Amino acid sequence: MTNGQLEISALDPLDHDTVDQWLELCQTVDDHDFANFETPSEAELLLGHMARPEEVRRLHWVGSVDGSVVSCAEARLYDADNTHLAGATVKVHPDHRRKGYARLLLGAIEDQARREERTTVVSWFLKPYEGSGVDGHAVGFAAAQGYGPTLETAVRRVDLLEVKEDRLDALYREALAKAEGYRIVSFPDPAPDEYAEGIAYLEGRMYTDMPLGDMDLQPAEITVEKVRARERQARRRGLLSLRTIAVHEETGTVAAMSQLETAPGDELIARQGDTIADPDHRGHRLGLLVKIANQRQLRSYRPRIRYVHTGNATVNDHMVAVNEAMGYRMLGMAECYQKELA
Ligand SMILES: CC(C)(COP(=O)(O)OP(=O)(O)OC[C@H]1O[C@@H](n2cnc3c(N)ncnc32)[C@H](O)[C@@H]1OP(=O)(O)O)[C@@H](O)C(=O)NCCC(=O)NCCS
Repeated sequence: MTNGQLEISALDPLDHDTVDQWLELCQTVDDHDFANFETPSEAELLLGHMARPEEVRRLHWVGSVDGSVVSCAEARLYDADNTHLAGATVKVHPDHRRKGYARLLLGAIEDQARREERTTVVSWFLKPYEGSGVDGHAVGFAAAQGYGPTLETAVRRVDLLEVKEDRLDALYREALAKAEGYRIVSFPDPAPDEYAEGIAYLEGRMYTDMPLGDMDLQPAEITVEKVRARERQARRRGLLSLRTIAVHEETGTVAAMSQLETAPGDELIARQGDTIADPDHRGHRLGLLVKIANQRQLRSYRPRIRYVHTGNATVNDHMVAVNEAMGYRMLGMAECYQKELA
């Protein structure tokens, strides 16, 4: 497809020259716009492009001028649940902005979404605020394309080298005293069979229990098969997924869980995934217990990782309090923008 100067084409994984340029562009934009935030490593980008999708298809395009890649786009098409949704990411080289390239690439994503009968496109943007060091380009762009803000998120990170282990020990001991009748179990995924059903149930609750603002995320039925598919997919993308659960001894119920993952080729940052306590088992500090235990599991599996990053809705006071107690500190703000397709 040719649009004036910008030529948009699907990224062919066997076109090595273009793939190299795509990786270099992603690195340049990430260094320029997302320094200190977690960004996908080259290995994660490559494996994400190649791995057979099971729940979420990732389509990649590059935008080139005179044969040089200056921009790229990723569409995420949710195929297992929330099939009305598409996710979008667009990146433009800092020297090539305000030329309309991102508008064209986002247009390509929206066209694809329409062809697949998606009705909503969502995209995450860093949010500028006083002292954030984030410029207003991305949110200015989002608004100009008809996207509106739906969910404000604070991104925090903990520096594992700075964490006071004796303070964590004290927190853990204090919490354990309120969690009589529960046992804490940590493992790298795949989850042992006996816990898979309980994990599926809690993963399903993530769609309804976490604050969603105006984001158009619908409830999903998460089955054991889907849990296994997610685990397979993570493995194929080179992600190490570490999980800790709290089990209610009397009933065997998985009462709480926390998951985090590390990306291939990234020895600096791990990413916090879902943390949730079943409403029937709240008030026992299980959230704190599973998070601390999982952080320790990370330290034993990947001792060189220095930071864990997490994003929480700014209104999620309880989760934020747990994170602050564990030493997480504010890094920046992000916002989910959304557009209903006509
Ligand atoms: C956001 C980003 C993709 C925009 O790329 P771009 O090619 O400069 O955007 P376009 O030229 O297509 O802009 C289209 C319109 O968006 C609006 N816009 C773009 N940048 C803007 C800014 N800094 N302030 C206000 N409006 C802006 C304008 O209406 C612009 O049209 P105009 O130039 O005719 O006024 C680019 O800044 C970028 O790569 N940022 C880092 C990655 C990122 O944050 N991506 C967003 C997550 S998906």
